[in-house]
Amino acid sequence: MTEQAIDTAERPGGLKRAVQGQLGAPLPRIEGPLKVTGTANYAFEDAPANVAYLVVVGAPVGAGTIIAIDATAAEGVPGVLTVIHDDPRMMAGEGNSRAMPSQGSRQIFHVGQPVAAIVADSLAVAREAAALVRVDVDARAGRYDFADAPVDETPAIGFLPSVTKGDLDLAMRDAAVTFDATYSTPAHFPAALEPHATLAWWDGDELTVRTSNQVIGAARGTIATALGIDAAKVRVLAPFVGGGFGGKTGVGAEVVLAAIAAQRLGRPVKVALPRRDTAYLVHHRSETRQRIRIACDHDGHISAIAHEGVAYQNDDSGFLEPIPFGSIPLYSGDTRVFRTALARVDLPPTGAVRAPGEAIGTFAIECAMDELAEQLGIDTIELRRRNEPACDPTSSKPFSTRRLLDCYAEGARRFGWPDRVPDPGTTRDGEWLIGIGMAAALRGNFTVEAAANVRLEPSGRVTVETDMTDIGTGTYTILAQTAGEVLGVTADQVDVRIGDTNYPKSAGSGGSFGAGSACAAVLLACEDVLAELALRMNAAPEELVLRDGCVTAGGREVPLAELARGEPIEGRGKSSPGQQAKRTSQASHGAHFCEVAVNGVTGEVRVRRMLGVFDVGRVLNQKTAANQIIGGMVWGISYALGEAAVVDTRNGRFVNPDFGEYHVAVNADVPQIDVHFIEEIDDAANQVGAKGVGELGISGAGAAVINAIHNATGVRVRDVPATLDTLLAGLPPV
Ligand code: MOS
Repeated sequence: MTEQAIDTAERPGGLKRAVQGQLGAPLPRIEGPLKVTGTANYAFEDAPANVAYLVVVGAPVGAGTIIAIDATAAEGVPGVLTVIHDDPRMMAGEGNSRAMPSQGSRQIFHVGQPVAAIVADSLAVAREAAALVRVDVDARAGRYDFADAPVDETPAIGFLPSVTKGDLDLAMRDAAVTFDATYSTPAHFPAALEPHATLAWWDGDELTVRTSNQVIGAARGTIATALGIDAAKVRVLAPFVGGGFGGKTGVGAEVVLAAIAAQRLGRPVKVALPRRDTAYLVHHRSETRQRIRIACDHDGHISAIAHEGVAYQNDDSGFLEPIPFGSIPLYSGDTRVFRTALARVDLPPTGAVRAPGEAIGTFAIECAMDELAEQLGIDTIELRRRNEPACDPTSSKPFSTRRLLDCYAEGARRFGWPDRVPDPGTTRDGEWLIGIGMAAALRGNFTVEAAANVRLEPSGRVTVETDMTDIGTGTYTILAQTAGEVLGVTADQVDVRIGDTNYPKSAGSGGSFGAGSACAAVLLACEDVLAELALRMNAAPEELVLRDGCVTAGGREVPLAELARGEPIEGRGKSSPGQQAKRTSQASHGAHFCEVAVNGVTGEVRVRRMLGVFDVGRVLNQKTAANQIIGGMVWGISYALGEAAVVDTRNGRFVNPDFGEYHVAVNADVPQIDVHFIEEIDDAANQVGAKGVGELGISGAGAAVINAIHNATGVRVRDVPATLDTLLAGLPPV
């Protein structure tokens, strides 16, 4: 076992002598053909003999207590196998919506909170019976309106500490120029395409759960805790996941209910949440209010910067949207205030959705910088340049790597920024008003503990095993590339086995930490194999050159298969973040550029082109990394122009819990998107030098669209989405 924490920035490891040319190459996804031919098997697609179907019954009101659950009518429907509402193990889930037993806690925290489950021979019967369950409640008036909800300024929940440095009021009073504006963003659904689906079955006292989940190692623990069994008795499988978007980071009540049902019936049980149920059974992103205050001199040098937000959560959950997360290391200024206040509501839980904090926090800060630049008469990129800090402006730690200035310069050059007409509302193309805008992107970088096994097979092929997931991100491919690079084989010589908790526990896919963490573990496992190969070559590991299936040292070239001598060579690796994560300030960075056309008559916005340049450390695969960034930029377009989950403030239900009324950007909304990387290997991040990619693309992207709309029309949008009605009144005369 090679175990290594990132305690120094020295990386003498296997990649230093890499010559295979696999890592970084724009290889297509290994599992792509399975997906496009429909042969990749998703969680709901297995149909074992005798499978039963589960439907969740939710609380009919958003606040109050349950008095009684009467399932008599439901139990009488032919085909119904069991009704679960009295099992104490139903109390489950981590921040996700949890099932509630009819004994014990009877408090209702939100509409749709799981209170019972019907299991039947067919889905149709289960649905029919679910409608017959009577839930008697003692309802109370709920807090459903974010605008009116009580606000706790010093909440005990959330993971992001508040920052208060210096006297903000004083700095604002003494400054030559001040800026003070309030922005808002609506609630967002995660909106992954594949529904939350689970198939559960037992062999004796051992449970297997096939589920659509981003972080199966953690899911295993959560499920075991919920059921009161040893985690060793639980196996979680997720070989294919059709998008996560943060909504599959935890374990929903339906997973635990399926396990309970499967045990009770002695049959496999499966469940897929209908789209509408995901609004209530899966966490969403809170609506936010955000106030930005900046004090600076006439040249734009910032002396004070404050980003203060309010997000909501119910009484049952511990997550709080870390609104100013991305702003904390972004711009210089001695006086600094960053905090998130909590509004208490009786709505479904809020949680991590598509770059929690940064996605919507960067909208406010990056629109504010654009507004301030206009107020000062300074180019918006130049204002950012003047406030680029030399080290983390909040913690004073050195940046591990930060190429933000290069992203601005390269993006501006490629996009044609110098040709921009700064006067808003003056460039026309027929009845369309044309404008361009930009915004910075920043997403904190995290590395988490991860382990992997790598086996050099007697055939000379390589097998990688780790409990990672691939949620459409390219995990299969980059793990193959990492192992191929170090062991000197092409990626197609590597078999990647993931999505199974029987493999070593890895990072999972969340927080943009999956790729760097898991590839680091694979690299270390490969070094374990290298050490054995060196022994067999009678050479020091540093002397080995591995390429095209052969090892060369001391003038000898030997095929890998020959060195394996008929027995596999096993390598095990485990990586953890170590001291460098504490000593340095780590983030991925970028610059978004966007051109929009706004119809001068109707207010319709069309994004014409979008380009971004990004600093993500080492790029593990040019194609899959760019794909992820493009996806993030699409989300930026999506929340700038369309996405808004609307709460019916009378009853705590969502008005639009479906893709018909909740508008995510679709192909027709998305232009050509151009992504470039400025690559600098970040040795403080992890052993492969890769920083997070997945959630960087959305950070700042919405602000670039909104800033382009301002350049096109002169209208400042501070409340997204920028729907037609928000623009019409402010459009210049045709
Ligand atoms: Mo991400 S929202 O942390 O899966």
